[in-house]
Amino acid sequence: MARVFSGIQPSGELHIGNYLGAVQNWVTLQHQHDCLFCVVDLHAITQPYDVSSLAQRTIEMAIGLLAVGLDPERAIVFVQSHVPEHSELNWLLNTVTPLGELERQTQFKDKAQRHDSIPAGLLNYPVLQAADVLLYRATLVPVGEDQLQHLELMREIARRWNTRFAEGAGFTLPEPQALLATAKRVLGLDGRAKMSKSLGNTIGLFDTPETIWEKLKPAATDPARVTRKDPGNPEICNIFTIHQGFSPPATQQQVAHNCRTAGWGCLDCKRVLADNMIATLTPLRERAQELRAEPGRVREILRAAATKARALARATLARVRQCMGLLEGAEA
Ligand code: TYM
Repeated sequence: MARVFSGIQPSGELHIGNYLGAVQNWVTLQHQHDCLFCVVDLHAITQPYDVSSLAQRTIEMAIGLLAVGLDPERAIVFVQSHVPEHSELNWLLNTVTPLGELERQTQFKDKAQRHDSIPAGLLNYPVLQAADVLLYRATLVPVGEDQLQHLELMREIARRWNTRFAEGAGFTLPEPQALLATAKRVLGLDGRAKMSKSLGNTIGLFDTPETIWEKLKPAATDPARVTRKDPGNPEICNIFTIHQGFSPPATQQQVAHNCRTAGWGCLDCKRVLADNMIATLTPLRERAQELRAEPGRVREILRAAATKARALARATLARVRQCMGLLEGAEA
């Protein structure tokens, strides 16, 4: 059975971008593989952040993951900082990571622009991400398209570590592969940038039916559809991408046909989408509500998961330390 690892930052909100791009796939994968899913709080502190709400956002993200169907009996759902081995492997991998590759990362370049003084953590972000996956020797990483460059670097780091340290040791860090969903890049409601909480262009997974409709109504569609009579192209319409996540195949075909022939206006198409989204998301929102009422239970799930993850992490780290020639004796 392949091992799967993926992570999500505790932004506080699961939205339909990270849901369709990654998390929905996680729910399926837990039935097929040995899975770990992580709320990556240590990644979230690489940018200026609100200290007072971090713990709450972390819990809220964990609740979200459980509410959409990750099952603690099937998958290890845990918080990154609860397993300090992530930070240790991060340091060890720093020693084989080329600085030039870090500086070339698009996400680093974008985020660095927003700082006068760039924190080293921002530069090293992808090394921690590599540590996340390699710590469990996971080979499959279900992510959205925006993570592909980090995945490529992760493979490079594994290769370099193996070349330098694994020779003859009978132990390697496998090179992980990205797994992309159909909706690998969901655009925001503005139809321009990637859907992202920081851009304020999201539909939250737990938004109420009223909010979903209020947000969908003005959302961008195929820009060529200026009037109701203009035919559209579903291939370039973000609303159609979202239909592919929430509407059954027969409805998707009907939507595509009615878009191309201008049989429906964009608002008609959005109403069908809203109804399908609401039908799918209402039970998830209710489950999240139930879990919010039981914070002790959620914490216990996270605690038990961290214990399981830690056992796996320690086993890898013991081999890594050994291969790197560090003096034994730290395993208290
Ligand atoms: P994050 O928290 O930004 O996003 C979580 C996952 O959701 C995907 N995603 C999207 N997919 C399609 N369309 C969108 N608009 C969209 N927005 C988000 C992301 O690609 C991601 O898969 N660095 C990672 C977290 C991370 C990680 C890891 C991932 C840390 N360690 C190890 C995989 C393996 C991040 O910031 O994801």
